[in-house]
Amino acid sequence: MKLAVIGSGYVGLVSGTCFAEMGNDVICVDNNPEKLKKLKSAEVPIYEPGLDILFYRNIAKQRLSFTDDLKKAVLDSEIILLCLPTPQGEDGSADLKYVFGIAEDIAKILVENPEHEFKIIVNKSTVPVGTCGAVTEIMKKHNLKEFEVVSNPEFLREGYAVEDFMKPDRIVIGASSEKAMNRMKSLYYPFTSHGSMIIEMNPESSEVTKYAANSYLAMRITFMNELANFCEEVGANVDLVRKGMGSDTRIGKRFLYAGIGYGGSCFPKDVNALIKTSKEKGSEMKILTTVDEVNKNQKLILVKKIVKHFGEDLKGMKFAVWGLAFKPNTDDMREAPSVVIIQELLKRGATVRAYDPEAMENAKFYLQDKIDYVDDQYEVVKDADALLVLTEWNEFNNSDLDQVKELLKTPVIFDGRNVFNRRKTKEKGFTHYSIGKTPIIAK
Ligand SMILES: NC(=O)c1ccc[n+]([C@@H]2O[C@H](COP(=O)([O-])OP(=O)(O)OC[C@H]3O[C@@H](n4cnc5c(N)ncnc54)[C@H](O)[C@@H]3O)[C@@H](O)[C@H]2O)c1
Repeated sequence: MKLAVIGSGYVGLVSGTCFAEMGNDVICVDNNPEKLKKLKSAEVPIYEPGLDILFYRNIAKQRLSFTDDLKKAVLDSEIILLCLPTPQGEDGSADLKYVFGIAEDIAKILVENPEHEFKIIVNKSTVPVGTCGAVTEIMKKHNLKEFEVVSNPEFLREGYAVEDFMKPDRIVIGASSEKAMNRMKSLYYPFTSHGSMIIEMNPESSEVTKYAANSYLAMRITFMNELANFCEEVGANVDLVRKGMGSDTRIGKRFLYAGIGYGGSCFPKDVNALIKTSKEKGSEMKILTTVDEVNKNQKLILVKKIVKHFGEDLKGMKFAVWGLAFKPNTDDMREAPSVVIIQELLKRGATVRAYDPEAMENAKFYLQDKIDYVDDQYEVVKDADALLVLTEWNEFNNSDLDQVKELLKTPVIFDGRNVFNRRKTKEKGFTHYSIGKTPIIAK
């Protein structure tokens, strides 16, 4: 099949590459000149494990190419997938200017080329219910007939994006006609060989499904974070409670890890967008307003512990940070709790030095030169008053704690991701604050 992917970011680039891997001809469009330059010179512009191999292979096989020529991409393709940003607008709703802007551009291209074949315009961006309908109206306004707008939300996780795309739990397709549904099923058929289900529905249900999934996951994390704070007050250990409750098959084990709040490019904005749409439609989802509020507070939980330990005035104090990305295995810094925490420390007069295996370049956009970026996990700890762990990268788990203790000015750890074994830190004489457990205070 001939496909155009509009927007070559985390979703677009991974989708385009994986579709190419299945033998489709894929042309990816992007309007960011810097990104396009990298893509055209066969450089992967994001960190996503496993993407590079498929990327190079499909470029070499000439099944994957990159352009800023929207017209050529649209006219040459049967299926046009929109993988555009839908960031949070000022009022909390999803800002649809990229999606509607491109819909207008596509409409004009098709009007100028009336002989065009039937086009399926697929919305993979996360968009509020009714957006497929709104894009359809844009096309109709230009008197176009040979098209259908389909909803096909993306569920990949950054850090596991290739694996998730190649072996999805499920594929949700919201289409209005059998013709479009069948073409979409053909497109995704190769991805069902591992038992993945294609779930067919109307576009509205499909649009709601994506928000429902993300908001539910955000709510689950938030529940655990509040529970963790409660556990600390009553001498319980949230990890043991998690095991105890998660082994109930009705609950399940995944997505129950307490921490310093969810971030990333999806959960925060998607929760807010669903709050906004549900209010607008007169069926407010009040639970999500609480989820968002609790999550914002949770991002400050480590700062509260630091202030309790060292006092409100942190002037002259030095903090070492391990992990900046909003989660491990990605270089994505969008809505990362680390930014909020570091800014609070800086506000109180502290200095911060940070190490992250992949996200330091992107972190500079958010923190500029307000902190020092250090390339080495141990070097960064030198002479610091405490170590903060803000992302649970694997490499932090079995770190050399003897070295950390020797390098730190005082052996204090604020473990926002519960990566350290408390028995070990206790043995080594650390003061160890974690999430959802009573702190270990070295005598
Ligand atoms: N990142 C994720 O993990 C993830 C997962 C599932 C769904 N989503 C959703 O997918 C959508 C895209 O997310 P993303 O993380 O890939 O965003 P992104 O910001 O990484 O990528 C978007 C790309 O679109 C490009 N772009 C913007 N305007 C354009 C235009 N007019 N023409 C061509 N290209 C244009 C940008 O340059 C950028 O490269 C969002 O709606 C998001 O909510 C994201």
